Amino acid sequence: MAITNINPTKTAAWQKLSNHFNLVKDINIKNLSREENRKDNFSLEFDDLHVDFSKNRITNETVKLLVELANEVNLKEAIKNQYSGKQINVTEGRAVLHTALRSSTEEPVLIDGKNIKPQIQSALRKIRSFSNKVISGKWKGYTGKAITDIVNIGIGGSDLGPDMIVESLQFYKNQLNSHFVSNVDGDHVSEIIKRLNPETTLFVIVSKTFTTQETITNAETIKNWFLKSATIFDIPKHFVAVSTNLEAVDNFGIDKNNVFPMWNWVGGRFSLWSAVGLSISLSVGFDHYKALLEGAEEMDNHYKNTDFDKNIPVILALISIWYNNFYLAETEAVLPYSQYLKKLPDYLQQAVMESNGKGVDRNGDKVDYQTGTIVWGSTGTNMQHAFMQLVHQGTKLIPADFIGYKESLYGLTDHHKKLMANFYGQMEALAFGKTKEEVHLELKFSGNEDKINQLLPFKVFDGNRPSNAIVFDKLTPRSLGKLVALYEHKIYTQGILWNIYSYDQFGVELGKELANKLLKNQ
Ligand code: F6P
Repeated sequence: MAITNINPTKTAAWQKLSNHFNLVKDINIKNLSREENRKDNFSLEFDDLHVDFSKNRITNETVKLLVELANEVNLKEAIKNQYSGKQINVTEGRAVLHTALRSSTEEPVLIDGKNIKPQIQSALRKIRSFSNKVISGKWKGYTGKAITDIVNIGIGGSDLGPDMIVESLQFYKNQLNSHFVSNVDGDHVSEIIKRLNPETTLFVIVSKTFTTQETITNAETIKNWFLKSATIFDIPKHFVAVSTNLEAVDNFGIDKNNVFPMWNWVGGRFSLWSAVGLSISLSVGFDHYKALLEGAEEMDNHYKNTDFDKNIPVILALISIWYNNFYLAETEAVLPYSQYLKKLPDYLQQAVMESNGKGVDRNGDKVDYQTGTIVWGSTGTNMQHAFMQLVHQGTKLIPADFIGYKESLYGLTDHHKKLMANFYGQMEALAFGKTKEEVHLELKFSGNEDKINQLLPFKVFDGNRPSNAIVFDKLTPRSLGKLVALYEHKIYTQGILWNIYSYDQFGVELGKELANKLLKNQ
């Protein structure tokens, strides 16, 4: 069997975790933080990545039992099976090999007995050569001018990944203007078109299936707009495609030399590492794109080879399961303290929720336990002035990942000190809160003794709200690759533990079908 099929709640480890939960559920992070070496014992380092998970409602025993659970459901075997190309996407009969896309080793990965590494290398060479020509200005538009603007036309995994990476790597960007059209809302494409000159714009149509309503509608609208100033013979200079559906690409009128491959062993939401990332390579140059892949590969090796108690994606996945399945927390927040990462929460919403938003287990039976978490978030410090009130003092338990960098990119150290003081300040406030006694003293010493009775309950912070600090030295293509791969592996780990299939997405079909029916009846 390519993938194990074990109901987690029927395992011995789950039983032990339930007993343990009943004993420790009221533990307080403030008390835990007084343990000797708490921070060191609950921190992990991997190259330029530092993860502090000490501000959680967990003890050594919690981690030990969660790791036992991972072992009991054969997570190790599941990881091995993913990397080696077994058909772990059982419902769609496919292997899942985004890890092979960023593997730089010669070690073959076989699908139906055929090594896929040569195709990956050849696609990378094509991406490099094309990106270099466009960026250097050697690639000319139909009036002989160099390309100034690139438009990625796609949706879901064919948009969110490249868009998020290009936004995150603004610092490393070249002179080309990058645009992303996704929504079938005609106002979206119209707003983009009005900024473009057809003579100097390159359109990258990204669609694994090349049948997605939004993408094809936008691509047709753009083609019609383009043909108002140019002819069909000019299309090869301005339109390229990334797809598995060569026939549909050909019917659209795209030159076969302008087609970049996609494979059915790469899921849409895990595809930015394939030619779906062409807009990334065009926007920041192939070398930075390659560094992104290398960073992801480093995380892949860490995930594959590290014992679970030291394995960053596994530990973060297990802690999230602890809150989701035992404390019954419904959501988790992703809070990057970098304006560059403002699109990360949107990207993760698809990656996490399309993958693990499943209510049927690998037997086809309805689960009677919680699965996929709801992920949301925004950048610090902006979100401190938006939703953090609820996270600090509301009635819900919301575990949060704080993502930050030791160094900023432009230097402004005064800003960065303030940014990171907020980063750590928020985590401390969440974890340790403010007691009645502290509020009492504070009001007294600020000359507000008369208001103590009236204000005290409103100014108390219960604390005991969990968070992880995920800190890299610096935002680089390589560290970004590591971060994204970290979350990808967290997703798979959770899918294995919840006994669900993470790599299909049948839940998005019904709404599409009904929309098509409604359209036909109009
Ligand atoms: O949202 C459903 C979905 O199938 C995603 O998984 C995928 O990323 C997106 O639609 C786009 O699909 P395509 O690349 O085939 O246009």
